Amino acid sequence: MARKILLEHDEIPGIETYAVYRKNGGYRSVEKALKTMSPEQVVEEVQKSGLRGRGGAGFPTGMKWSFLAKPEGVPRYLLCNADESEPGTFKDRYLMEKIPHRLIEGMIVSSYALGSNLSFIYIRGEYMWILDILEKAIAEAYAAGFLGKNILGSGFDLDLRVAPGGGAYICGEETAMIESLEGKRGNPRMKPPFPAVKGLWGCPSVVNNVESLASVVAIVNDGGDEYAKIGIGKSTGTKLFSACGNVSRPGVYELEMGLSVEEFIYGDDWCRGIANGKQLKACVPGGSSVPILPAHLVTKTAAGENRLMSYESLADGGFASGSMLGSGGFIVFDEDQCIVRNTWNFARFYAHESCGQCSPCREGTGWMEKVLNRLEHGNGNLRDIELLEDINKKIEGNTICPLGDAAAWPVAAAIRHFREEFEWHVTHREESQSRNYGLLLKESLMQ
Ligand SMILES: Cc1cc2nc3c(=O)[nH]c(=O)nc-3n(C[C@H](O)[C@H](O)[C@H](O)COP(=O)(O)O)c2cc1C
Repeated sequence: MARKILLEHDEIPGIETYAVYRKNGGYRSVEKALKTMSPEQVVEEVQKSGLRGRGGAGFPTGMKWSFLAKPEGVPRYLLCNADESEPGTFKDRYLMEKIPHRLIEGMIVSSYALGSNLSFIYIRGEYMWILDILEKAIAEAYAAGFLGKNILGSGFDLDLRVAPGGGAYICGEETAMIESLEGKRGNPRMKPPFPAVKGLWGCPSVVNNVESLASVVAIVNDGGDEYAKIGIGKSTGTKLFSACGNVSRPGVYELEMGLSVEEFIYGDDWCRGIANGKQLKACVPGGSSVPILPAHLVTKTAAGENRLMSYESLADGGFASGSMLGSGGFIVFDEDQCIVRNTWNFARFYAHESCGQCSPCREGTGWMEKVLNRLEHGNGNLRDIELLEDINKKIEGNTICPLGDAAAWPVAAAIRHFREEFEWHVTHREESQSRNYGLLLKESLMQ
């Protein structure tokens, strides 16, 4: 199901420029929305489309927009989340780098729908070169009359700014992002109030992911009903996945929701199988925060159904035998990879990125990193596995923002599905320290 909507023109030379983008149908949705539709009609189309947020949680975009408070005389803001710092996820980067006008177009129609006259793109601090690409494209959009005062004579004004983050993963959490935009340390806020009521500078705000906003262009152009026909069930439309790890052809792929996971991993149009002729061992289908799936649950659910690239199917089985679509970072592990090492690697990331505001997360992520470190390096004992499970329970659900959960879930899933590897690191201390221990582990587990 190769279907390109977002990346339709990604291979056209010069598509990053206004001239080429416009020649290929760019900014049609702005003309349509501002000349023929009311803001409420745009919101209605997005509701009809069934679009779900592409930033990780999959919350319906139209419903989020309908919650936006509209007190008289108070400004509203649209904030684009381009922080993209989740390990394994690099799809927004590709979209912004290749087709920056697509995001800008999506932001103009979305700002019109929401009544935002000043909108922001909050971009990951390490994406400095993309900041330049976006600023250049924004300047072109101003020059062409798609940004600024009285756009296309509609009476609608919009200024669009790009704000770089400082390289903190936590600033991708929407309320931390708002704090950061306000010039403060990026600590998440307690919710409620939600940003739709009290967001940037205390004003009603909508936070949406890059891909969500870019998808609004097709919804306005073709209508919400048409968009809803693409995909499967409640997973409508196309979705970008960044495939990485041990696949033959890593990269960013746009696919129609509902493609089978097997086809995605092995198909010629997609990842072309596991690199170097090896076997699949495991997969993290939605970025480092989601549960890992062992090979037998990657392409089939526990009930024996084909596993599909959709919100529902990737989550089928709950945490016992499923995972989540998350942010679309599709990380594949071959038979030689060590799950304990990978779990430790993810844990190091979360311990480093915890903002430190909530003690279960601040202390718990640090403890998990330490315990996994000693297990990984052959210095642990069997009680450490229970200790990890205990720390996990103390973090999960006990923090202001979901970073704590995101740190806990991968560890819990790794132990659930690969407990024998954790035990192996205790019973094979010397081998754990060998550089080839992934292979040693495979051999001894096979005996
Ligand atoms: C620790 C953490 C990091 C996050 N990072 C991102 C991110 O980089 N990009 C993103 O769009 N959403 C991220 N999110 C989710 C946002 O809080 C928010 O749900 C999302 O931007 C909403 O957009 P959507 O509805 O279009 O998905 C993160 C959440 C957490 C808890």
